[in-house]
Amino acid sequence: MKKTKVSVIGAGKVGENVAYLLTTLGLCDVYIFARYREGLEPAKAKALDLKQMAVLMDLDIDVKGISYDKEGFEELKDSHVVVITAGIPRKEGMSREDLLYQNLKILKRFTDAIKEYAQNSIIIVVSNPVDTLTYITLKLTGFDHRKVIGMAGVLDSARFKSFVKEKLNVSNADIRTLVMGTHGDLMVPVMSHSFIGDKPIEEVFKAKEIDELIERTRKGGAQIVSLMGTSAYYAPAASVIRMVEAIINDRKRVIPCSVYLTGEIAKHYEAEDLCIGIPVVLGKKGVEDYELVNLSGYEKREFLKSVESLKGMIKIADNLLKEI
Ligand code: 2OP
Repeated sequence: MKKTKVSVIGAGKVGENVAYLLTTLGLCDVYIFARYREGLEPAKAKALDLKQMAVLMDLDIDVKGISYDKEGFEELKDSHVVVITAGIPRKEGMSREDLLYQNLKILKRFTDAIKEYAQNSIIIVVSNPVDTLTYITLKLTGFDHRKVIGMAGVLDSARFKSFVKEKLNVSNADIRTLVMGTHGDLMVPVMSHSFIGDKPIEEVFKAKEIDELIERTRKGGAQIVSLMGTSAYYAPAASVIRMVEAIINDRKRVIPCSVYLTGEIAKHYEAEDLCIGIPVVLGKKGVEDYELVNLSGYEKREFLKSVESLKGMIKIADNLLKEI
């Protein structure tokens, strides 16, 4: 039986940690793609290192490194999932949106390669601004929209959960948090669908504390950038694993992701022809179902602010694509 194969494009901090976690979990064969730089081949080096680690952990999986500048992308073939992490990360003072032009140029090369060599794969986009780049990936590949998924809400919901946990002596297992909308300052921590045990979160915290949790969650990524001068990578990588595992093990997990809205889903969320974070069911076919969350009045207004901001980003991206 053909082994499950996951390809990771990009061997920066996020990409290498995705490859590391996939290897340690023994989930699949891992193919790492990175640029060949001044005689150095980071993809090959990290693949060799991971393969030697897998032996020590008695994991029978294969890890391969490809320097795509030299070898191209043919080794993408037969990938079940392709994770796009390549792109420049944020620096101090930058928004995710500031990365659009640079990361759009980098993305175009990968979408052409995936279209050519991995037509049957499911794509997970990590590079920022992720909602816009997920939309662009969908348009450039022409893939079924249920097979192009942005990693965002799962990360933001985890940050929200970690901030709640700091305030309460409660197990992770009994905290449910949800973040929807854009993966940016306008993201929407959804209090009406977040619980501590069986209690709605708004019955546990005062209004001021709720506001603080919303602010902290929205700034969760920026806080790490301000502390170390670049973006986070452990939690983003673990967020990717949560999605990959649900897909390759056909788990039908409900996970908030950036997905393309159309038809009835678009009608429910009053958002058409864009990618934005909502809870979806992830399984072997990719997005297998969508949750129609009934947001509160305030949350809906915040969600629609996300929608407006994403429409503007898509317009900019569409114009930039004409230059690339
Ligand atoms: C973050 O929020 C990298 O966008 C990712 O940390």
